[in-house]
Amino acid sequence: MDLGLHGRKAIISGANRGIGLTIAEHFAAEGVALALLGRNEAGLTVAAAQVRAKHPAAKVCTVVMDLEQPQTINPAVEASVTQLGGVDILVNCAGGAYRGRLEEIPDEMWERYFKVKPLGLLRMTRAALPHLKKSDQGRVINISGTRGREPEAHSMMSGPINFGTLSVTKAMANEFGPFGITVNAIAPGSTATRRFTELVEITALERGLSLEKAEQYLLQEVPLGKVIQPEDVADLAVFLASARSRLISGTAINVDGGRTRSI
Ligand SMILES: NC(=O)c1ccc[n+]([C@@H]2O[C@H](COP(=O)([O-])OP(=O)(O)OC[C@H]3O[C@@H](n4cnc5c(N)ncnc54)[C@H](OP(=O)(O)O)[C@@H]3O)[C@@H](O)[C@H]2O)c1
Repeated sequence: MDLGLHGRKAIISGANRGIGLTIAEHFAAEGVALALLGRNEAGLTVAAAQVRAKHPAAKVCTVVMDLEQPQTINPAVEASVTQLGGVDILVNCAGGAYRGRLEEIPDEMWERYFKVKPLGLLRMTRAALPHLKKSDQGRVINISGTRGREPEAHSMMSGPINFGTLSVTKAMANEFGPFGITVNAIAPGSTATRRFTELVEITALERGLSLEKAEQYLLQEVPLGKVIQPEDVADLAVFLASARSRLISGTAINVDGGRTRSI
């Protein structure tokens, strides 16, 4: 299937590791030119080298920005657009959530994490919008999380952060539709990145289990019984970025092995 991605240009935030880096690798495999954005310059350099090692023909640049420092966002997007010669796809992947129940989360952490997602995501999109409007295949893909739909007390912050991301995805889809830009969200369940390793360790500690048993415990609620891999999320990102998804917009798709109970 021709995905119509060859020669397209993408900006990806949070691209130095985890899901963002895997999306970059999958895009490179389709011939998409990449700007990898993040706050960790050394990490970005290593990530770019990793993409080039797997896909020697890949066009990759790196740009440093910190979503907690809003003044770095516009210049980073402009530098990316200049180096790529335009942009067709924006993937807002940077983010995370401070783990814990309400009483365990300091005020400062609410403010810090919200600055990254959804606020940083909004700022990134606003900066990229004038350039996306010039594309004939504009795409915005926001990485949310299943807790946005099904919040849990023990992960209090994941709910509003990811719910906010889903909500702005819908609103932006409405706003950008007349410019031919689609906006969608991907909601991963627990995915095998650094965050998942931490979750397994915490579960093992809290429940007095071995790491293996803690992972099994977490998988109990996943009907398909497997840990989500970043590749599972990246495959969907490739499809949503492609010409094949041209009339899919304003939606959010779970990649969670069937764990989410709501439809
Ligand atoms: N893994 C999961 O189980 C899971 C589940 C649901 C949703 N998600 C979502 O998926 C996305 C990617 O998560 P991941 O699992 O790949 O996590 P990760 O490995 O922790 O990666 C998070 C990325 O966000 C970047 N980032 C964090 N704060 C930033 C800031 N202020 N400015 C710029 N970049 C920043 C990190 O950069 P640094 O290296 O500089 O920290 C890193 O590249 C996140 O939005 C997360 O909420 C993940």
